[in-house]
Amino acid sequence: MKNILTGIRPTGNLHLGHYFGAVSNWVDLQDKYNTFIEIADVQALTDNFNNPDKVRKNVKELTLDLLACGIDPKKTTIFIQSLIPEIAEATVYYSNLVTISRLYRNPTVKTEIKQKKDLFGNGESVTYGFLGYPVSQAADITMFDGQLVPVGEDQLPLLEQCREIVRKFNSIYGNTLVEPEQLLTKNTRIKGLDGNEKMGKSLGNAIYLIDDLDTISKKVMSAVTDPNKIKKDDKANPDVCMVYYYHKLVNKDNLDTVCSECKNGSRGCVACKKELINKMMEFLKPIQDKRKEYEKNMNLVEQILKDGTNNARKYAINKMKLVRKNMKIDYFE
Ligand code: TRP
Ligand code: SF4
Repeated sequence: MKNILTGIRPTGNLHLGHYFGAVSNWVDLQDKYNTFIEIADVQALTDNFNNPDKVRKNVKELTLDLLACGIDPKKTTIFIQSLIPEIAEATVYYSNLVTISRLYRNPTVKTEIKQKKDLFGNGESVTYGFLGYPVSQAADITMFDGQLVPVGEDQLPLLEQCREIVRKFNSIYGNTLVEPEQLLTKNTRIKGLDGNEKMGKSLGNAIYLIDDLDTISKKVMSAVTDPNKIKKDDKANPDVCMVYYYHKLVNKDNLDTVCSECKNGSRGCVACKKELINKMMEFLKPIQDKRKEYEKNMNLVEQILKDGTNNARKYAINKMKLVRKNMKIDYFE
């Protein structure tokens, strides 16, 4: 069975964008592959070093969200990055194989630095840790022989950087690391309620898996609809309406009706939104029910994290032995 490794930063709760874009795929993959999911707290700290409480809180929140979505701890190893020191160790060794200008050229890093002007001041004063997080991510993947990495398009430059590090490492120290490939999945990027291409916390346009009826109602009621539809019985174009966009995700059975009624003017936007709210709640119910079960049993959740981290650690320790041997720093072995 091939190893799959993916990671997620504990900086907030999961929203529908995470669910449809990533986590639902991971749930399918765990049956076919040896799957590792890393809670990337070290990476989260690269741009949240000034907010340790946020990262700590979200390690548990994220674990609950993942379990609620159907990540099965019997099939998937969920682990905490900072508790695997071998990842930090590998990061140090890999740092020698990457130039600073190459890191600055990484498109993902470039975009993120621009977005973080408030944290770093101008681009010149970006921290060493943040600039280097692709190196640490290469360690995440290679310490677990991650052969396949299910990631979205925005992460491709990070994977390419990892592949370069692996090739360079192997060419100098001999064949040691596995070169990962991207796993192309039905990677649907979900638009925000406002029509923005991306759903995100900072954009304030996200529906969270833990949102309750009241929250969902408010959000859906203010979603962007066809601006040309003024009166209830105006004909409209569902393809420019975010409410319709979400009907496509959670109301597949009644989609044809929604579409034709919108087009022929027999459907008012308020009724249409109310239907979406109900369907959204129906969709979220099993996820929220499962989450509540786990919330009642936080000892179990903690045990899942401990066991996952222990298993991951064993794997990484073993891998690090080979790394040290091939780098000729296994002094007393
Ligand atoms: N950079 C990823 C993100 O921001 C998270 C991540 C950390 C990751 N380590 C990883 C993804 C290893 C894939 C493989 O979402
Ligand atoms: Fe959108 Fe529904 Fe209004 Fe049509 S009727 S514009 S699909 S909210």
